[in-house]
Amino acid sequence: MSGKTQNIYVCANCDAQFSKWSGRCLECGAWGTLKMETRKQEEIDSRLGGKAREKEVSQAEIINLEKIAENGLSRIKTNISELDRVLGGGIVPGSLVLLAGEPGIGKSTIVAQLADAIGKSHGDVIYLSGEESASQIKARLVRLNCNLEKIKFISETNVEKAIAAISSLAPALVVVDSIQAVYSTEVLAEAGGLNQIRASAVKFLELAKENNIAVILVGHITKDGQIAGPKSLEHIVDTVIYLETETANNYRVLRATKNRFGSVNELGIFEMTGSGFKEVINPGAVFIETSGEKITGSVISCILEGTRPFLVEIQALVTKTVFGYPQRKSSGFDLNRLQVLASVLTKRAKVNLVNQDIILNVVGGFRVNDPGLDLAVCLAITSSLLNQVIDRKTLVLGEVGLGGEVRNVSKLEQRLAEAEKLGFNRALAPDSEIKVKKLELVKIKNLEDMVGQIAQIA
Ligand code: TYD
Ligand code: MG
Repeated sequence: MSGKTQNIYVCANCDAQFSKWSGRCLECGAWGTLKMETRKQEEIDSRLGGKAREKEVSQAEIINLEKIAENGLSRIKTNISELDRVLGGGIVPGSLVLLAGEPGIGKSTIVAQLADAIGKSHGDVIYLSGEESASQIKARLVRLNCNLEKIKFISETNVEKAIAAISSLAPALVVVDSIQAVYSTEVLAEAGGLNQIRASAVKFLELAKENNIAVILVGHITKDGQIAGPKSLEHIVDTVIYLETETANNYRVLRATKNRFGSVNELGIFEMTGSGFKEVINPGAVFIETSGEKITGSVISCILEGTRPFLVEIQALVTKTVFGYPQRKSSGFDLNRLQVLASVLTKRAKVNLVNQDIILNVVGGFRVNDPGLDLAVCLAITSSLLNQVIDRKTLVLGEVGLGGEVRNVSKLEQRLAEAEKLGFNRALAPDSEIKVKKLELVKIKNLEDMVGQIAQIA
C-alpha cells in the first residue's frame, strides 16, 4: 500500500476534513475555506492510530498516588472579594482562566483591576493586548487608579514572541486581552478563527503549567453565542467565568461555569461606576426595582446562588392569542418549565390559558434555574391574566408539582430571613413548620389556594 496518496479537503477555519470539495464548510458554515491537502496512506493510517506506530511504543509511567507529596492548593488572593468568591478563594498559580463576555461589558476593566490588585500584593503582572495600544491601556489604568509600576505591557499579536517575552520575566499573572486577537505562526489560519484560538490557548496552557504562572484569557462572545470561539476553549482551560448582564443597568454578574479548583455556584456582583467596578457587598435586592410602581403580572421571589440569597422579580404578560397557536416566550427562565406550569395552571387551578400568549421575563437580565420560583411564575401569569396587581412587599416561594400541589423549597428559612431583612411584610410559602419573626406567612397548599389569595395580596 505504500506510496499511495489520498486527497482530502480541510477547512482553514475549523479544521474539519472532507473527502469532496464544496464551496461551504458543512461544519462551521464558512465559505470558500476548504483547501486540498494530499496525504500519504501511511499518514492516514497513523492518524487513525494505525499499525505503523505499534512497535515503537514505550510504556507510560505508572504513579502511586499515595507516594505523591500533598501540598494543597496555594491561591493568590486578589482581595477583590466578589472575584475571589467566584474563583473559589483566589487564582491558582499555574491555572488557565477564561473570562468571556460580550464586547463592551467590562472585561478589560475587570482584568485591569485584577492586574492592579495582584501587582500590589504578588509581584509583576504582564498585560498582553493585541487590541489596544499602550496609550489606551495606560489611560484606562490611570482612570482606574492603578499602580503602573508593577504592570508591564506587551503589545503583540504573535503568540510565540509574546511567550518568549513573558518567560524571561516570570510574572505572577499574565492577562491576554483578547484571545481572538492573537495568532500562532504554527497554524495557517487568520487570527480569531477557531483553529487559531485553540492553538493559541494551548500555547498559553503550556506557559501556565511549565512556569507556574496564572494566565487569564479574555474572550469575546456575542449575545446569541454565534461566535463560538471561546466555547471551544472550555475543555482546554481550568476555569471559565462569564461576565454578564442586561446592558441597561450598571450591575454586572460574574459567574463561573467551570472550575477545576472550586465550586461553580457562587456569583460575584459588581457595579460599574465612573472609576471601574465596585463590589456590591449586600447584593440581596439589586435585581429588583425597589421604588417600582405596582403593575400587574409582576411578582417578587428569592433564589439562592451558592450561599447567598438574591431577590428576583418575575414579570408575565398574558394576552389573547390573535392568530394560530398560543405563543410562550421566556427570557431568563426555562421555556419548557414555563410550558409545564401553564398547563398545570389551566388544568388544576382553572386559570384558562388555552388561547392566551404568555411572555415571561426575569428583570435585570438574570438567568434563573431554581424550582423555588415556580409559584412566583404561576402567580405572575395569573396576576396578568386577571389584571390584579400583587403587593411588592410580598415574597412568593414554592415549587409546583404536576398535580398543582405546592412543595417545599430548599433553604426556605434563609430566603425568608433575607426578605425580612429587606423590609418585606408578607410571604406566600409552602406549608411547613418554619417560624418567622416579623413576616406574615401565608401558607399555600396548591395552586387553587394561590388563586384564592390573589384578591387579598393586592
Ligand atoms: P471595557 O472594559 O473596555 O469592555 P470590554 O473589554 O468587555 O469590551 O469597558 C466597557 C465599558 O465600560 C465602556 O463602554 C466604558 C465603561 N467604563 C466605565 O463606565 N467606567 C470605567 O471606569 C471604565 C474603565 C469603563
Ligand atoms: Mg476590551
